Amino acid sequence: MAASPVSQCLDIAEASLDVEALRQEFPTLERWTYLDVARKAPLPRCVEAATRAFFEDIYDSAGRRAFSMEAVDETRAALGDLLGVPASTLAFVKNTSEGLNLAVQSIPMQPGDNVVVGEFEHEAQIYPLRLLSEFQGVEIRVVPASEGRETPEALAARMDERTRLCAVSHVAFGNGSRIDLMALSAECRQRGVLLLSDAIQSVGMLATPLAELGPDIIVAGCHKGLLGLNGTAFLYCREDLIEALRPIFAGKYSVTSDRLAPGPVVFQIDARRFEYGNPNFLGITALGASIRMLDSIGLSAIEAHIRELTTALIAGATALGIEVRTPRDWNERAGIVSFRLPSNAKAIVDRLAAERIIVNAKDDHVRASVHFYNSHADLGRLLEALSSV
Ligand SMILES: Cc1ncc(COP(=O)(O)O)c(C=O)c1O
Repeated sequence: MAASPVSQCLDIAEASLDVEALRQEFPTLERWTYLDVARKAPLPRCVEAATRAFFEDIYDSAGRRAFSMEAVDETRAALGDLLGVPASTLAFVKNTSEGLNLAVQSIPMQPGDNVVVGEFEHEAQIYPLRLLSEFQGVEIRVVPASEGRETPEALAARMDERTRLCAVSHVAFGNGSRIDLMALSAECRQRGVLLLSDAIQSVGMLATPLAELGPDIIVAGCHKGLLGLNGTAFLYCREDLIEALRPIFAGKYSVTSDRLAPGPVVFQIDARRFEYGNPNFLGITALGASIRMLDSIGLSAIEAHIRELTTALIAGATALGIEVRTPRDWNERAGIVSFRLPSNAKAIVDRLAAERIIVNAKDDHVRASVHFYNSHADLGRLLEALSSV
């Protein structure tokens, strides 16, 4: 069969993953070209199976496993292994917003202190900081991006002796640009500033262990690259910082002191100090299953595949005359490619959905995002559709 002009634009390299076999795990992909993991993951069968097993345990075994903290701790250990950090540095929280709120509220700050934040931050990061400003008199310094990038240099330039925190996401949800967190953390460390990062757009997709990424605190929802259910997220905190953070909430699971004991409340010495009540047992069980899947594929292979696909997508779009606003260098991007198109992006997204292609619109640009289950054929269908809008 002769290659179409669009498929000729794709630089199809040998895939190192057995993508076709992996796709069988995702029923959504039988009917949809799914390029929107930056919004939600198309859940794999193993997550459904774990969910069923959870109910079976409740029906057959009175929930002795389903509602056990041992099961939660096993998933915590598996998450730590996958992400390259000790389990003791991980707390399960409800979503990215909760984790970021908990983080910023637990860092000691005084009126007149300031926080430096990137322009590309999501509502999940901006609103917790705005509350700090409204109620605690902390100044929020929003640093504009330059040429589509938030840079360590520009962020560092706004820091001074009253800067307590720098907050920046690893990968921007809009244009998909990735910041060099290691370089930024060096700037922060030099100035005694804590670095907090929202890594929801990179976790489960990029291979660098969290402990080597740079930030002191990292928060991410598990419903994107980690292929989990909504309502599960984690907060990672550098081991030697944990005890300096005083949570604003407390409950049965976050403390070690007795309920009515005199004196101050004593928090857990590890990251569980942020887990105040019953956890999301079902969500964490499901997460255990998707972690096993990601682990069996390997984050390095996943990252390589995402890199290959996004590189091909950028090249294919450029060859078709479609403007790409995502940076080109791999170190400056991850799984998101953002396109500037002549007509309204939301209308294009709706039109593509009618053709069973799922992408998203962010600030009037079309956003496609890939994971290990995406194929070159997916990209071909997207480019074919975009070339005629
Ligand atoms: C950068 C970023 N942060 C956070 C979120 C989501 O926050 P939450 O998990 O609180 O819903 C998203 C997308 O949904 C995002 O793209």
